[in-house]
Amino acid sequence: MMRRTMEMLTRAIALSVALIGVPASAQDNPSESERLIGIIEAWLASPHGDRTSEAFTHWNEEREIPGSCAVCHSSTGAIDWVRTPGAAAGVIDHPVATGTTVDCVVCHNAASASLMSVPFQSGASIDSFGSSAVCAVCHQGRTSSGTVTAAIEGLEDDVVSGDLGFINTHYAPSAATQMGTLVQIGFEYPGKVYKGQFTHVPNLNTCTDCHSPHSLEVNLNNCTACHQGAATFKDIRISPLDFDGDGTATVGIATPIATLHARLEQAIQLYAKDIAQAPVAYSSHAYPYFFGDTNADGAATDDEAIFPNRYQSWTPRLLKAAYNYQLVAKDTAIYTHNPHYALQLLYDSLESLSESVDVDMSGLVRP
Ligand code: HEC
Ligand code: HEC
Ligand code: HEC
Ligand code: HEC
Ligand code: HEC
Repeated sequence: MMRRTMEMLTRAIALSVALIGVPASAQDNPSESERLIGIIEAWLASPHGDRTSEAFTHWNEEREIPGSCAVCHSSTGAIDWVRTPGAAAGVIDHPVATGTTVDCVVCHNAASASLMSVPFQSGASIDSFGSSAVCAVCHQGRTSSGTVTAAIEGLEDDVVSGDLGFINTHYAPSAATQMGTLVQIGFEYPGKVYKGQFTHVPNLNTCTDCHSPHSLEVNLNNCTACHQGAATFKDIRISPLDFDGDGTATVGIATPIATLHARLEQAIQLYAKDIAQAPVAYSSHAYPYFFGDTNADGAATDDEAIFPNRYQSWTPRLLKAAYNYQLVAKDTAIYTHNPHYALQLLYDSLESLSESVDVDMSGLVRP
């Protein structure tokens, strides 16, 4: 462990000195070099510096990362992307070698520093991320509402189609959720109006206003001046409406989101059993997340959560709801990145399922 840390430290210092223009003389200046080491240590302890993570080791056997994954899963791919003006969202046209993480140089290079506009899967480009634009290159998911619309085109809402498979928006798409309907990361039901960017307050809007760029952590003390009494992020509440109809509107906004999310899972299961006539169960960690619930116990057990048992009785209505369910699951902090967008997607998914099966919508309020 110690050796690995030292090795990484040396490598990172070399990188930072060479690439971000920290003068080599800083190493002779005790306070400068202490600060630098503090940054390096914070980064090493963060998910971005974790060489053992599945997010960076997934391709170790093949020893190269395809261009459709490399932008977000390697430093090389990310830098190639930012240096290609007009590049398509999330892809480059060549594979890269494994062995990098989100290294210092991903953010500290001239192209990333001057990056203004970031394209998303919906086709929209957003130029309001400020100095956090590079975060949005990777934290934007791999789909949009249009991906789902294209897959279900011409199909009957409640008829199982063998052509459909689950559409997974991918992990931690926080930049996309923050922008809401501007980039349509959720499946947006036709005829409904959705929240755009969650603008919050002027000096707490960009990613690094809240997240340390190196440890990636958010300091709760920066929140409690306004959100008094919050002991955790999940306690924060401003919205006065009782979204889940439980008679209280003072618990953290994360709570009604979690409640509606759990209700959506139940509604999905009911619909799958009654309309698609094939019980479904969800696993948060096994690809592709929705599986046949062969023993009908409501949970994806280890023997069920395997690819050959992936759910294959999708109807368009079920796919739309499951897509939104997964989105809310995969941005675990959607309650702070765009709480009302999450509530709208959950409400509309429940409402859609309620047109076919018995889902209790009484008391629910759409923001
Ligand atoms: C090159 C792609 C890339 C860039 C650029 C990037 N990230 Fe990440 N980020 C990732 C990956 C991949 C992970 C997961 C790493 C892991 O599993 O160890 C991650 C993890 C995170 C996490 C931790 C998530 C968790 O599950 O706890 C946070 C928070 C985060 N990033 C925020 C940011 C912020 C803020 C920025 C911009 C300052 C940023 N990221 C820039 C790819 C990127
Ligand atoms: C637009 C950026 C982006 C693209 C493109 C992308 N990913 Fe990811 N992926 C992420 C981020 C961000 C995470 C980390 C989420 C976290 O752990 O916080 C992640 C996580 C993962 C993980 C780790 C999941 C786990 O269990 O921890 C795997 C595996 C993965 N991606 C596979 C792929 C594959 C395969 C491709 C290409 C087909 C791909 N990704 C393309 C952004 C991307
Ligand atoms: C995910 C993007 C990202 C990564 C990776 C990253 N940084 Fe930074 N770094 C930033 C941002 C953004 C700022 C600017 C913060 C500000 O302007 O307030 C910054 C600021 C700095 C600063 C100047 C600010 C200070 O407090 O002295 C140094 C030095 C630095 N980074 C070094 C590094 C080193 C060394 C690494 C790798 C170990 C690294 N950074 C990795 C995004 C990143
Ligand atoms: C208003 C403050 C705020 C802003 C702005 C913000 N975040 Fe977050 N973010 C949080 C909080 C709070 C958490 C939860 C942290 C925790 O639980 O420790 C979080 C969690 C995350 C996670 C981990 C969640 C997961 O599902 O893996 C990622 C990744 C992330 N943020 C990325 C971003 C990116 C990228 C941006 C900019 C587009 C951003 N955040 C903007 C406050 C913010
Ligand atoms: C300067 C005051 C201020 C600070 C500091 C502040 N917030 Fe806020 N926050 C607000 C205001 C005002 C709203 C309502 C914004 C709106 O609905 O448009 C809000 C709304 C929220 C919400 C949604 C609550 C709901 O019920 O809809 C969350 C979550 C949140 N803030 C998280 C954070 C986090 C995390 C931090 C610290 C990183 C933070 N806030 C710091 C003023 C602040």
